[in-house]
Amino acid sequence: MKSVKSVKRRTVVKGLGVAAAVPATGLLTTGTATAATRTAPASLVFDPTAYTELTVSIKDTEGTSHEVVYHFHKVASYVANPVDATYQSLNVSVPVTIDGAAVDATHAPILLANSVGGYMPSSVAAATGIGATGMGGGTSRQGLALAAGYVVVEPGARGRTLVDAAGTYYGTAPAAIVDLKAAVRYVKFNKGRIPGNVHRIVSSGVSAGGALSSLLGASGDSPLYEPYLRELGAAPASDAIFATGAWCPITDLEHADMAYEWCWGSNPLAGGALVDQTVSKELSTAYGDYFASLKLSAPGFGRLSTRNLDDYLLRTFIQPSATKYLAALSDSARATYLAANPFITWDGTAATFTWADFLTHVGARKKNAPSFDAFDLSTPECNLYGTGTTKARHFTLYSLRHANGDSARLDEDIPAKLHLMNPMYHLVDKVNGSRSRHWWIRLGTKDTDTSHTVAGNLSARLTALGDDVNTSYYWDAGHGADQDPADFIKWIATVSGYKRTPKK
Ligand code: DHB
Repeated sequence: MKSVKSVKRRTVVKGLGVAAAVPATGLLTTGTATAATRTAPASLVFDPTAYTELTVSIKDTEGTSHEVVYHFHKVASYVANPVDATYQSLNVSVPVTIDGAAVDATHAPILLANSVGGYMPSSVAAATGIGATGMGGGTSRQGLALAAGYVVVEPGARGRTLVDAAGTYYGTAPAAIVDLKAAVRYVKFNKGRIPGNVHRIVSSGVSAGGALSSLLGASGDSPLYEPYLRELGAAPASDAIFATGAWCPITDLEHADMAYEWCWGSNPLAGGALVDQTVSKELSTAYGDYFASLKLSAPGFGRLSTRNLDDYLLRTFIQPSATKYLAALSDSARATYLAANPFITWDGTAATFTWADFLTHVGARKKNAPSFDAFDLSTPECNLYGTGTTKARHFTLYSLRHANGDSARLDEDIPAKLHLMNPMYHLVDKVNGSRSRHWWIRLGTKDTDTSHTVAGNLSARLTALGDDVNTSYYWDAGHGADQDPADFIKWIATVSGYKRTPKK
């Protein structure tokens, strides 16, 4: 391990202590203070000479192993005033040779891979190398990215369960997104010092991590986060990212109870019982108004409403998913599958079926009603909206009033926090011009952790905005599935215009 060297060029700024005289790169395009008037502490200056050289064997999706030598940099914190550096730290992995051939990652895209799950805290502080192994033992996206010659940044982030000695929750909303933005700012601030193209940051995340990834993409450089970032001492740079990958994003939380009942309201729970159908129908009906407010339309469907939404989801995402699955099977495997699933009509090239039959095929729903803002505050999301010493709070009027009576009002800070956590706010209510323009959205058709409309609405809205959107639902796959990881790695090269060139 090489020693961590101190920064060479230093200047003392009166009143601010030691600050690095660093070039003003990645200037803020929004926000109140201009980056030019700010200096950053030396701790935010990335030291390219501080790394451990490691070797890892990475199996690609064809099963071929590649030996990658890489430089592994540990950054103690990506903010100057960390609340808890165990979570507010990041690791950078830079490929040096792949199968013995030198690679130059100077202009490579940067995969920013968060590992958030369940809106829980995530830490990379103890990691001694890149997270090359994914959940379930296969190769992770990080590993595949490194083997493709990309730079990989793995940030930690605070999460909802963190509580200090005084009983104060310090990882509830909006902590995790503020942390991920601070990590992006750190990377962009260190343009020219961190290897890789800081203008080609591609975010990835699954489930709650997928929600945060899509939020990171949607809310780039939004001034709403500025006070939080300033308090942490985030680097003076942009937090806009180039492209966004989101697998089964658990997002649009304040509308997710309604969306869930619209989608899965008539599906039984695992034991066979239906959820409270009065609650389910009230929420499902209310979803109609919310969905209409999105003013979505799609070619061939016109204006979307909850009357044609099932047909839209079927024909846009779900039937094509079944078609892709069936087309890839051998004739005999396909015949077996179709015999076991007679609700599917296969005309030789495409699968069709009804929405009702699809719902029956999916079977048990995972969550009770309401699924996210539970009346008894027991869900992860109620904890996400906790504050101070209060572990969990209601964040929808429906659940709040059901629990506490018709005159109850949401806590004053809740609406603004919902905006800080919801990508749809940044795509619908306030269309953010600094959002990502390239999107990779994935969802399993048997995933009942949230409504199928959540990813569908995100995709439809981004498409309507003219962004480059690659959305696909994996047939019969459950929560957290990633069935085309190699395609994602290729997609990064395509959208970022990157071609790996051998080092001269
Ligand atoms: C996750 C799953 C959920 O069902 C949820 O409500 C929130 C997060 C997750 O897997 O990250």
